[in-house]
Amino acid sequence: MVNSDMSESKPSHSQRSHTVGDVSPQVRPLDGAFRGRRILVTGHTGFKGSWLSLWLRELGARVSGIALDPPTEPSLYAAAGLADFLEHDLRRDIRDQDGLLEAVRELRPEVIFHLAAQPIVRKAFSQSAETFEVNVMGSVNLFECARQVDSVVVLIHVSSDKCYRTNPSGGPYGEDDPLGGDEPYSASKAAAELALQAYAGTFFERAGRPLWASVRAGNVIGGGDWAEDRIIPDAARALARGQPVKVRNPVHVRPWQHVLDALYGYLLVAASLLASRRDLQGAWNFGPDHNAERTVEDLVKTFLSAWGEGSWEAASEGVSAPETGKLVLDSAKAGRLLQWTPQWPFEEAVGRTARWYRDFYGKKGAALELCRRDIHHFTTAVAASE
Ligand SMILES: NC(=O)c1ccc[n+]([C@@H]2O[C@H](COP(=O)([O-])OP(=O)(O)OC[C@H]3O[C@@H](n4cnc5c(N)ncnc54)[C@H](O)[C@@H]3O)[C@@H](O)[C@H]2O)c1
Repeated sequence: MVNSDMSESKPSHSQRSHTVGDVSPQVRPLDGAFRGRRILVTGHTGFKGSWLSLWLRELGARVSGIALDPPTEPSLYAAAGLADFLEHDLRRDIRDQDGLLEAVRELRPEVIFHLAAQPIVRKAFSQSAETFEVNVMGSVNLFECARQVDSVVVLIHVSSDKCYRTNPSGGPYGEDDPLGGDEPYSASKAAAELALQAYAGTFFERAGRPLWASVRAGNVIGGGDWAEDRIIPDAARALARGQPVKVRNPVHVRPWQHVLDALYGYLLVAASLLASRRDLQGAWNFGPDHNAERTVEDLVKTFLSAWGEGSWEAASEGVSAPETGKLVLDSAKAGRLLQWTPQWPFEEAVGRTARWYRDFYGKKGAALELCRRDIHHFTTAVAASE
């Protein structure tokens, strides 16, 4: 459902009794960076958007969201009661430029994290035109809002490791490697990146704002993802029903990483741009350590061992959606310039994810509590490594 007015607006969080609270240790580069700031997250009803919105609230930001209804049932957005923590919780279709602009004009955000997208590779085969409409023109509409609404000083565009033109070696891809895409999802993300470069090189550059970054991460995992056709949600659903996990493409190598590791990179870039680090505009890779470049089979076995029981079996491919066999990122730039390094190695990222789902399905913790637990552990690890 697409609402057309601002009736979903909420009183400011300072007026609300129910807040996430400041339970996590402060991480120096983020300390105070977002406190009291008006932040817009597009795609806040999705998996990454929900985690990011919760974390931003922990950091004291005034968070609003624009998205469609949650893409899954259940969803982290609903399970964690995210609506309670948002100043404005708007349903808009980013393909509707006028509706989007009207909303952004009223919200007057200082920072936009743009995550709204059709993110499923296999769905992009059956709904190719729609994927391009949402991922390319929806993003262009958002860039147009960032251009026209002068409160926006920072724009973070959430892209993908799949935006690079395929190199038969599988990478590692650096930020300056050519963009491209052999299938609709990848091409749509690459096309959105090109549009952003055009906006940045013309309108943003001339106006001196917003400062911008395009952030590229790979397959992120973590509790609360219930998307179709993703291996961790598929595994959690199967195990919760006591069924074997069906695995497509067990030999494919992917750079697995916990969602908080990727989001920490996005937050670091945004905080740096908010501190007027104009020199840090551009593209950023946030991939895991090489030890997390594992096959799908390794991932499932590690997940099963952390879950404590269960089995897996190879699934027939069905309608083939050719996916890159191997895809790894070179994240040296983020290490050098942002002091970003992955905090949770493969086993810990998978183990924490398995615990999240096991505790959720076992009713040992509510989704919000489980997310706060992970954010707390994550920021404790970052603070200890500083
Ligand atoms: N999850 C991953 O492993 C991964 C990896 C690389 C990049 N990404 C990127 O991260 C972003 C978020 O991914 P996710 O996994 O959280 O996806 P998700 O499907 O969980 O959430 C997508 C969000 O976009 C919103 N949305 C979709 N179409 C929309 C439209 N027409 N108008 C307004 N909102 C719309 C949905 O309502 C939802 O809030 C996407 O840009 C995706 O391409 C995700």
